[in-house]
Amino acid sequence: MTGPDSRVSAALRRRFAGELGARFGSGWGDAFAAVPRHIFVPRFYAQADEGSWRAVSCGDPGYLETVYSNQALTTQLDEQGIPTSSSSEPALMLDMLDALDAREGDTVFELGTGTGYNAALLSHRLGDDSVTSVDVDPVLVEAAVHRLEEAGYRPFVTSGDGARGWPQRAPYSRIIATAALRALPAAFLAQAATGAVIVAPIGYGVLRATVTAPGHATGRFLPTPAHFMPRRTPTVAPAFDALRSVEPTDTKVAAGNVLDRLRFPLSIALAGHNSCSWRDDDGELTAVGLWTQEGSTATAHVSGAVRQIGPRRLWDVVEDLAAVFDGVPLRDEFHVTITPGRQTVSYSVSGGPSWELLGGSTP
Ligand SMILES: C[S@@+](CC[C@H](N)C(=O)[O-])C[C@H]1O[C@@H](n2cnc3c(N)ncnc32)[C@H](O)[C@@H]1O
Repeated sequence: MTGPDSRVSAALRRRFAGELGARFGSGWGDAFAAVPRHIFVPRFYAQADEGSWRAVSCGDPGYLETVYSNQALTTQLDEQGIPTSSSSEPALMLDMLDALDAREGDTVFELGTGTGYNAALLSHRLGDDSVTSVDVDPVLVEAAVHRLEEAGYRPFVTSGDGARGWPQRAPYSRIIATAALRALPAAFLAQAATGAVIVAPIGYGVLRATVTAPGHATGRFLPTPAHFMPRRTPTVAPAFDALRSVEPTDTKVAAGNVLDRLRFPLSIALAGHNSCSWRDDDGELTAVGLWTQEGSTATAHVSGAVRQIGPRRLWDVVEDLAAVFDGVPLRDEFHVTITPGRQTVSYSVSGGPSWELLGGSTP
């Protein structure tokens, strides 16, 4: 086995699994105690200064202590230094595995193999033959397969768009996604057995849905906040230049902290949107911006001036949400109903608002 002294790592891992288990009283404690995370994360990137990263490899001071702590670890960066793969925060992984409720005899499909660590935890508990994992990046898949073998696991791992599932090994009784989706992919529903549980990050929350009949499911969001890297798709640039010629309108919603406060419902109402902010030389916020894949862009200045362009008036969506939610809404008050061709998120107050999740049928 490669990596640092296994006696030290085993001791750290036992403590780490004990802390996680004590926090959650979860049946996954044995798997976290047995699976060596350091095999799957021989190197990670720590944020140095704003925008720069420092590689931390096995043998570096603090490496093992960080690997066996409750930290998400960035494991791959693109040419711009944007993270493209990571080993998620263990407590969040545990929360999602608990919600998945996988037991002996279940067959699991995972979107987002990444390092292979989650696939190893699943294999440890359910057996290699029960686990199918797909990552869009063949380089990651190759590395994950080697690390899984090194750690003694042989689940089925392959590369492809996980939003297409892997029909050759369907039906699945459990489906888990570890990259953020805009909606449940149609393939998940097509490849799920009736009664299957699906756990997937949607926007800044994690949905747990149960398949009630072919193509139908109902579910709720977990209380846990989640910020997963998005499922990889082509990106569209914001139209800030074109906005300059747009006549501003007034808004009563202060740009201040509204995007933070409404982060979760906004990630549902405007699935897959991006946002940014501008600050003056003293670090004071001056404006915020929003844009979406279909080419809509909006900016709101702290003075109340709003400019919007494109097929959707994005700031109007922010205003509508601000009118519904005074504070930060609780994720587990949002439930989801899925029928073939339609996925609706509703807020659990009588006569409360609802939103359609779009993008489930476009792999
Ligand atoms: C947070 S990481 C997954 C962590 C992983 N489960 C682990 O234990 O290390 C998200 C992963 O999703 C993958 N991904 C993004 N879009 C995908 C897609 N369309 N299909 C499959 N995998 C995808 C990324 O390449 C990345 O490795």
